[in-house]
Amino acid sequence: MRILVTGSTGKLGSALLNQLESSDYQIKLTSRRKPERIGNGEWVYSDLLSGEGLEEAVKDVDVIIHAATSPVKHSKIVEVSGFKEFLGKMQHIKNMIYPSIVGIDEIPFTYYKQKLEAEELLRNSAIPHTIVRSTQFHHFVENIFLSKPFFNRYIVPGNFKFQSVDVNEFAKHLIGLVEKGPHGRIEDFAGPEILTLKEMAKQKIKLNHEPNKVFSIALPGKLSKSFFEGKNTNPLRKLGGISFEEYLRDKVINT
Ligand SMILES: NC(=O)c1ccc[n+]([C@@H]2O[C@H](COP(=O)([O-])OP(=O)(O)OC[C@H]3O[C@@H](n4cnc5c(N)ncnc54)[C@H](OP(=O)(O)O)[C@@H]3O)[C@@H](O)[C@H]2O)c1
Repeated sequence: MRILVTGSTGKLGSALLNQLESSDYQIKLTSRRKPERIGNGEWVYSDLLSGEGLEEAVKDVDVIIHAATSPVKHSKIVEVSGFKEFLGKMQHIKNMIYPSIVGIDEIPFTYYKQKLEAEELLRNSAIPHTIVRSTQFHHFVENIFLSKPFFNRYIVPGNFKFQSVDVNEFAKHLIGLVEKGPHGRIEDFAGPEILTLKEMAKQKIKLNHEPNKVFSIALPGKLSKSFFEGKNTNPLRKLGGISFEEYLRDKVINT
């Protein structure tokens, strides 16, 4: 079985590559930049924006795990129209595994609407596929909200809720889907606990013995309301075992 991992330089792509390296699968990788380490895999250049290399990327491949994404730059093309073009080259694919995000149908955020459009394109195609939505990754929440204190304060919308999950655990889950074959949209994959951003910030401060404090702000609007209400969580699908605190502790040990 030959698996193509798109977005092979990204967080999920790298986690997939690390785990697939020790498997019996033949691995093909694609992205615009070449990953630093490709192990036994074959890397090909491709760009969802221009369409260059997409044909070559899917050649002689059985299963695709699509971890390429561009939430900010040219997102409409990469997530939707480029993705549609990519789907057009997949007639031979046995399972297109599409990682999506919990709550995209309820959260009014442009990137999420595009992910929903991509899900629909896949669902309406003849390509055998599996769609699985995950909650936000631990590092993603940390990088977006807790990377930089200002004047010894993490200024955050403290009432936002997250059920973040370890990216390696989600990668393992996706790899586990390869042998199961196409299943359409399957159940979500979510982290072990639901925390407010304020609680997450406090955990980081405590664990790193930081002098910082949390300054919580309330943001107006529908988008904020949906994170406050936890539309991005799924309490019934606590499949991840590594908590945000454990992720932080692991980082301290490994740096
Ligand atoms: N981040 C989260 O918290 C989260 C949560 C749930 C689900 N997901 C989903 O998981 C998937 C992977 O997310 P991630 O966080 O791992 O993303 P990421 O770290 O930002 O990686 C994105 C990858 O896409 C590639 N890429 C970007 N533009 C491209 C283009 N024009 N053509 C081809 N490749 C391109 C990048 O490589 P090059 O720049 O080298 O091309 C990179 O390898 C996405 O579908 C995302 O929606 C993410």
